[in-house]
Amino acid sequence: MVPKHQLLGKDFLAISDFSKAEIDYFLSEALSLKELQKQGIAHQFLKGKVLAMIFEKSSTRTRVSFEVGMYQLGGYPMFLSSNDLQLGRGETIADTARVLSRYVDGIMIRTFAHEKVLELAKYATVPVINGLTDEHHPCQVLADLLTILELKGDFKNLKLCYIGDGNNMANSLLEGAVKVGMNVAIASPDGYQPDPHLVGNVHAEALVNGTEVLITNDPIEAIKDADIVYTDVWTSMGQEDEQAIRLEKFQDYQVNAKLCEHASDDFIFLHCLPAHRGEEVTDEIMDGSHSFVFQQAENRIHAQKAILKILLATG
Ligand code: CP
Ligand code: NVA
Repeated sequence: MVPKHQLLGKDFLAISDFSKAEIDYFLSEALSLKELQKQGIAHQFLKGKVLAMIFEKSSTRTRVSFEVGMYQLGGYPMFLSSNDLQLGRGETIADTARVLSRYVDGIMIRTFAHEKVLELAKYATVPVINGLTDEHHPCQVLADLLTILELKGDFKNLKLCYIGDGNNMANSLLEGAVKVGMNVAIASPDGYQPDPHLVGNVHAEALVNGTEVLITNDPIEAIKDADIVYTDVWTSMGQEDEQAIRLEKFQDYQVNAKLCEHASDDFIFLHCLPAHRGEEVTDEIMDGSHSFVFQQAENRIHAQKAILKILLATG
């Protein structure tokens, strides 16, 4: 059990910052907030609170789910494009953090280098939430864990496989899967595997909690008997110049019906979206009966409301 105020005022930067009990706490809050929302019961735990949302990259899900989620919690979400902030004209992250902390109750940021988020969190006196960096996407993974919990009942004896680029999603999924006790296999082409330092830490945690971690370049080996099949775009935001070479390198890593024959019979397919249909995944899989990508996208709002409530609600 996590005491109610243990996480009050904390940042949400990476899954690895939290214990299993804390992740379970976020998930159980997300389930109750989802229920309240579905039943139309008001739950204004953040009345009078303001969330600043800084975006240095595009977004559909993160922006809309944070904005609507904050509204549903009775608070006010403030969208700030970095182009419009002085941040885009050379004001430091540290000064931006110090100033915003005097106006708002929390800051969500989507940016490039993860170090920028760490810097913001260092100088902010209010909670900072990572809405995606080049290295991590923890809000997405919390929503993914919620979706898996809803569909599979619990995490025990499950195998999650991720086929594709060893990017922010692969990193955060590795951390999330091992944290909750799932086995995890990642298949990426050589040169595109997840961050080796992060993989080392995940291996160490897996040794302690008895989960299996496999990093391979063989998609068939990774997907074998998998309960959850996950993929993401081959070219992430900020890598547009590499698109042509990536298209070539990832050809054998498409999640399609043939590859999925090796997964467990009742596998579920997840994708953080946006998907590039016909590249990392076929329409047949995206729109097929194993796919739960839109339930997963919906769960962004419930998972993030839990994060906001746990970090910001003083009542
Ligand atoms: N999955 C995700 O973060 O989507 P957006 O880029 O649309 O926010
Ligand atoms: N890996 C993708 C995830 C988008 C939600 C990117 O960073 O563009």
